[in-house]
Amino acid sequence: MEKTQSYIQTNKQRFLDELVELLRIPSVSADPAYKGDINRMAEAIAESLRKAGADGVQVHETAGHPIVYGQKILHPDLPTVLVYGHYDVQPADPVELWHSPPFEPTIKKTSVHPDGAIFARGSCDDKGQVFMHVKAFEALMATGELPCNVKFMIEGEEEVGSTNLGHFCRQNNALLACDMVLVSDTSIIANDTPSITVGLRGLSYVEVEVTGPNRDLHSGVYGGAVANPINVLTQMIASLHDEDKHITIPGFYDEVDVVSREERQKMNEAPYNQEEYMADLGVNGLMGEKDFTTLEQTSIRPTLDVNGIWGGYIGEGAKTVLPSKAYAKISMRLVPHQKSEKITQLFADHFKKIAPPGVQVNVHPHHGGEPVVTPTNTPEYQAAFQAMAKTFGKEPLPQRSGGSIPIVALFEEVLGVKSVLMGFGLDSDSIHSPDEHFGLFNFYKGIETIPYFYQHFAALKSQV
Ligand code: BES
Ligand code: MN
Ligand code: MN
Repeated sequence: MEKTQSYIQTNKQRFLDELVELLRIPSVSADPAYKGDINRMAEAIAESLRKAGADGVQVHETAGHPIVYGQKILHPDLPTVLVYGHYDVQPADPVELWHSPPFEPTIKKTSVHPDGAIFARGSCDDKGQVFMHVKAFEALMATGELPCNVKFMIEGEEEVGSTNLGHFCRQNNALLACDMVLVSDTSIIANDTPSITVGLRGLSYVEVEVTGPNRDLHSGVYGGAVANPINVLTQMIASLHDEDKHITIPGFYDEVDVVSREERQKMNEAPYNQEEYMADLGVNGLMGEKDFTTLEQTSIRPTLDVNGIWGGYIGEGAKTVLPSKAYAKISMRLVPHQKSEKITQLFADHFKKIAPPGVQVNVHPHHGGEPVVTPTNTPEYQAAFQAMAKTFGKEPLPQRSGGSIPIVALFEEVLGVKSVLMGFGLDSDSIHSPDEHFGLFNFYKGIETIPYFYQHFAALKSQV
């Protein structure tokens, strides 16, 4: 891999310049207004794969946003890695809270990233991490050091639930045939503490609507006698947690995997500093499920959070109104072996049951996804382990993440293969938030590590 590594060193600046161009495209998947940018983005990714040396590069149209596919098959007998990532990004809102415009990439130093970080929506999640793969592949192709077959599948709907990717995988089983899926869409613990993600939480997402009187009412004339949907909704939501921050929905914990004492002990050996954690968030205390550590609360335990709530008068000044309706968006993060569909049903049944007389409750399910835990005793995990140990000079720790990538469980179901979650971001990179950024250290470390991954994977696979 010497030639590859020196190719990377020589072309570092150009790699960064090219990433900057991709980050200028506002490929927001949630908002139809950006459809043209989504298509432009898909074309740009396809073009970057072609230039890097991929064959059969195609932008596949779907019922939603396109999927970019490309491959390099050196020999049918060699092992094949399927690289998955997403080129779509979250909306940049609230735009006014960004210190530099979200689609005008800006490089700035931070205390966590003394070598600089690139600030832009999608820099870390996930364009920067997808582009590490394109550039690592380019380097391997340019030097003739690619040791195995590679396929790329880069989608444009991850941030909106990967609605059409499952269908695409089922329809293209043969095209996507591989030995494993490699995903860089997660984080490491710190730049001096590499880690490999070995778990992702699942997701149930619902929107609730509480309807009271048939119209908005004068809160003086009617207030006191008629159920106020906002009062009711907030009370119902408050009742979903008890004083120990357990979730009160009957049956919610029935399938939850009890993690062994040993595994919990091991998990908590990962570096964690409560003072720093709170200081970073600007809070003077934490709140979570009793008898679990912060690391456990955000990885092996299920949660319920309100993501948005609205209703009534929210304009300037005061308006005395008893509103007809109130709404909330509520997400639940799931752990093995909870099932998204079942949890959504349990929520809906419970939420309707606790509604007091005088209101009507509607529950609309949104997208969901299943949790995953990936094994560590596989050639692919070992390859990631060795590759990171080499480039970081330190063995990576296995770590379960609290985030969700719903398609990973589907890869196992549809393609029959395991995934390796070798991400290079940091949890503090503000993904989905204003000032999202990706460390230059992390970007380059990813590009350097990926070739070693292929090298170790090809070697380990030929031994079995
Ligand atoms: N890359 C993230 C998931 C992630 C973030 C995993 C940090 C591990 C660490 C992904 O793009 C994402 O945001 N997923 C969504 C789910 C999706 C269905 C909208 C999430 O976790 O909220
Ligand atoms: Mn992502
Ligand atoms: Mn995301």
